[in-house]
Amino acid sequence: MSNSLPNIPATQSTEDPTITLGGRTLQSRYFLAPLAGYTHLAFRTAMRELGGLGLATTDLVLATHLISESKKSMDLVATTPADRPLTVQIYSGVNEHLVRAAHWLADHGYEAIDINMGCPMAKINSQGGGARMMCDTSGACEIVSAVIEAVDLPVSVKMRLGWDRDNLTAPQLAKAFEEIGVTAVTVHGRTRAQGFHGDVDLEGIAAVKEAVTSIPVVGNGDVRSVEDAVRMREVTGCDAVAIGRGAMMDPWIFRNLQRVVVEGKEPIEPTADEKIQFLVRHFTLMTEQHDDYSCVLFRKFAGWYGAKLGIPEDLEDRLRRFESLAEFEEIVDQIRERHGERESWIPTNMIRVPNGPVERW
Ligand SMILES: Cc1cc2nc3c(=O)[nH]c(=O)nc-3n(C[C@H](O)[C@H](O)[C@H](O)COP(=O)(O)O)c2cc1C
Repeated sequence: MSNSLPNIPATQSTEDPTITLGGRTLQSRYFLAPLAGYTHLAFRTAMRELGGLGLATTDLVLATHLISESKKSMDLVATTPADRPLTVQIYSGVNEHLVRAAHWLADHGYEAIDINMGCPMAKINSQGGGARMMCDTSGACEIVSAVIEAVDLPVSVKMRLGWDRDNLTAPQLAKAFEEIGVTAVTVHGRTRAQGFHGDVDLEGIAAVKEAVTSIPVVGNGDVRSVEDAVRMREVTGCDAVAIGRGAMMDPWIFRNLQRVVVEGKEPIEPTADEKIQFLVRHFTLMTEQHDDYSCVLFRKFAGWYGAKLGIPEDLEDRLRRFESLAEFEEIVDQIRERHGERESWIPTNMIRVPNGPVERW
């Protein structure tokens, strides 16, 4: 789909802008799709503050890590009251592990569970988790049903269209999941064999929507602009849209969706000040969770902010190796002063997807 700024006429929709998933009423039909390594608490919160975001999901968490409360999994499920509504995504190929992880989430006050059936990575698929689960409808139903019965939380599933073109199991799985009580399905419109290559198949998502009776279908894949999101909904008939990389590239996409689709207004580009403020907010929220270690964690975002904000290269380089909060502030002061020295661009290729043949991922 396109990378361009939306150029659609602003028309106020008559549709209810809210959507109810498993008893939760969400204020927007546009969600943040999980992007492991990026959509952490600080980023989610900073994005929520911009407005228009209906729901966020944590990065995928391995069920056994959650049960054993490993440091990594605790970081992944870390949340605050401002980080709502939130769904925690878990994965495992072992029923018992998923059930125990679901119990852990219910016992610790989380509000919803998503089961990952879309991850194409070999290390996850080889254990029977991720997209591998789509190859066995009855096995997948058994595992999902066990989770639904174990806890009193809404359970959704995120999947792909199927394992490959010859095994497009998403419609039949979605139908079966609806029958056992899944509250919603998110469908990334590619097969596992496609990885992240090729076009998103909107007809494939439409087939999932046609297969279910009443549960919401969340369309996902390659939505980069308001226009893309509108097209996703129009072509597939999906009830909501999950945006991953497009939201990284443009965190203001949810605000603009709210403006254009719901309020019938024109989209607005964030000002330079707003963009810098987003960078500061992202880092500040990170320090609330990770203290000084945020200086290390934030380096990963240097190139991305460099491109997005047009940060002069020497300052981008400093963002890649700063060591203290005071140094961060000093860099930001200079970013403000020197704004406009370097042209900004959309960091399309900076969110890494696995390379090479999908069998080797
Ligand atoms: C770096 C990266 C990490 C991802 N991590 C997850 C994850 O943890 N759970 C999940 O269900 N999907 C994950 N995905 C898939 C995305 O949620 C989404 O389905 C896919 O990127 C297509 O949507 P997009 O084009 O809007 O990004 C990941 C994708 C990328 C690129």
